[in-house]
Amino acid sequence: MNIQALLSEKVSQAMILAGAPADCEPQVRQSAKAQFGDYQANGIMAVAKKLGQAPRQLADIVIQHLDLNGIASKVEIAGPGFINIFLDRSWLADQAKQALTQPRLSVAAVEPQTIVVDYSAPNVAKEMHVGHVRSAIIGDAAVRTLEFLGHNVIRANHVGDWGTQFGMLIAYLEKQQNEHHEEIVLADLEAFYREAKRTYDEDEAFAERARAYVVKLQGGDEYCRAMWKKLVDITMSQNQLIYDRLNVTLTRKDVMGESLYNDMLPGIVADLRAKGLAVTSEGATVVFLDEFQNKEGEPMGVIIQKKDGGYLYTTTDIACAKYRYETLHADRVLYYIDSRQHQHLQQAWLIVRKAGYVPESVPLEHHAFGMMLGKDGRPFKTRSGGTIKLADLLEEAHDRALTLVREKTPEMSEAELQQLAEVVGIGAVKYADLSKSRTTDYIFDWDNMLAFEGNTAPYMQYAYTRVLSVFRKSGVAIDALDALDAPLTIAEDREAQLATRLLQFEETITQVARDGTPHVMCAYLYDLAGLFSGFYEHCPILSADDEATRQSRLQLAALTAKTLKQGLDTLGIKTVERM
Ligand code: ARG
Repeated sequence: MNIQALLSEKVSQAMILAGAPADCEPQVRQSAKAQFGDYQANGIMAVAKKLGQAPRQLADIVIQHLDLNGIASKVEIAGPGFINIFLDRSWLADQAKQALTQPRLSVAAVEPQTIVVDYSAPNVAKEMHVGHVRSAIIGDAAVRTLEFLGHNVIRANHVGDWGTQFGMLIAYLEKQQNEHHEEIVLADLEAFYREAKRTYDEDEAFAERARAYVVKLQGGDEYCRAMWKKLVDITMSQNQLIYDRLNVTLTRKDVMGESLYNDMLPGIVADLRAKGLAVTSEGATVVFLDEFQNKEGEPMGVIIQKKDGGYLYTTTDIACAKYRYETLHADRVLYYIDSRQHQHLQQAWLIVRKAGYVPESVPLEHHAFGMMLGKDGRPFKTRSGGTIKLADLLEEAHDRALTLVREKTPEMSEAELQQLAEVVGIGAVKYADLSKSRTTDYIFDWDNMLAFEGNTAPYMQYAYTRVLSVFRKSGVAIDALDALDAPLTIAEDREAQLATRLLQFEETITQVARDGTPHVMCAYLYDLAGLFSGFYEHCPILSADDEATRQSRLQLAALTAKTLKQGLDTLGIKTVERM
C-alpha cells in the first residue's frame, strides 16, 4: 500500500472538484509532527494563489469534497491552509494484516520498464579502487530495488577494456610470460600496471613493440586479441571475488566494456559530421557546444576523434548511450559514476540528444557520488599514502567484526563466529556507504561503521535478530502467523505509529527507485527499528493482558521482521537469525 499515492489521488480529486486545474499538485507529505496528523496536504496555498482565492476558504471546500471515508479518522485545516490527515486505526490494522498475508509486503507491481544500470566499471589490469566500490555498492542497491519493484534491469559493467595502454600491457604480459610462470604474472594488478609503464618509459625497443601491438590489436590481430582477452579475463576474475564477497550481484555476463562499442565509432563520427554537428578543427574531429564555455568564453570543443584517428572516452559514451536505447531498448538509463565525471557525461549526452540517438522521453540520469575520504578529510589512502587494496580492506572489515562479535557472544562456536563476522563486517562497510546521501564525500571510519548503536549495519542486523527472538520465546513460527485468523487490532499510540511506519515501506522504496538514493531506505529502516523498540518496551507482547492482544502484537512484530529483512535485502545487506 502506497499511502502517499492514495492520499495524493484523493486530495487531488477533491481539489479539482473545488475548482482547481486538472494538473494541480496536492503535495501530500508525511507529517513531521504527530500533532499535524500522519500526512499533510500542502498544495492548497499555491492553487488558491493561482485562482485568486483565500487559501483557507479553498481548503474548506476541498475538505467537503475529500472522501477519506474509512481511511482517515480526522481531517482538519491548519495554519494558512494546510490539510492535516489522521489515519483511521482500523484501516491501518486492515492494511497491516494485508501486508503480512500478501506476497512482497503487498507492494503493488509497477508497469515494468527496461532500466539499464551502469555501475562498478573498473579498468582492466588495474586494481578496483574505492570509487569503483562506491559505484558497485550503491549501484547494486539500486538494481535490487528496481528488480524488487518488478522492472527489467540490465546490469551494465562498463569496464575500461580498451585504449592505447593495451599495447604496453600486451607487450609487458608477453615479457613476463617469457620470464615467469603464467599464474603469478597478474597476481598484483597494481604492480603489473606500474611496472609495464616503467618499462615502457625506460626501454625504447619495448615501447616500439608496444606501439606496434596497439595497431595490431585494433586491426584484429589474433595473437594480440588473445593476449588482450587474457588481461580482461584475469582482471575480471579477480574483481569477481570482490563482487561475491561484497554480495554485489554483478557477474561476468554483465560485462559490457568499452570495447563493445568499437565498431560503432567510425559510423558515429561520420554521422555527426553529416549532421553538421562535428567539424574538423586543427586536424581533429570536434563538436562545439554552445551550452558549455571554455576559459575564453567561447563554445567548448569536445574532441570525438583525435588527429591520429584515435577515439576518446566521450566517443565511446556517445555510442554506448545509443546502443542502450537502440539495442537494449532501455526506457531509462542510470549511471553510477563519481561526480567528477559529471561534465563528461553532460557533454556526451548533449551530443546524443542533438544527434537524435536517444529521445528525450528516455532519461539518461547521472547518479553521482562523492569521494571516500579518510578520517583526516583527505582522499582515503594507506598510512604511507598508497591506494588501499580492496581485498585488504574487506579482510580488515572481517577481522575487526570478528573481534567485536567474539566479545559480544563468547559462547558461539568458532565457525559461527567466522560466519557472523563476515556478515557484520562486510555489511558494515556497505551500509556506511549506503546510509549517507551519495552526492557528498564521505568519511570512512571503522569505529563509526562497526558501532552497535546508531544507523549502522550491526545495529540494524541486531535489531532484526531481536524481533526474531520474540518468536523464539513465543514458540510461534514467524511464517505460521500468516495463516493465523486472529485479528490485528490497533489500540495503543505506539501500535499505530509502528503500523503506519510499516505501511510506509512502499512509498519509501518507490522514492529510492525514482531517485537512486538508498540512504532513504536506510533512514526508514533505522527509524522503523527504533519504533519497534519503543513498541516492544511499552506494549508487552508475550506477557500481554489477553491472548487476542498477544496475537495481534505478534503479527505487528512479524511484519516488522519481514519489512526489516526485505528492506536490508534491497540494500544488499545480509541478515542472520541470531547474534
Ligand atoms: N571505467 C571508468 C573509470 O574508471 C568508469 C566508467 C563509467 N561508465 C561510463 N559509461 N562512462 O573512471
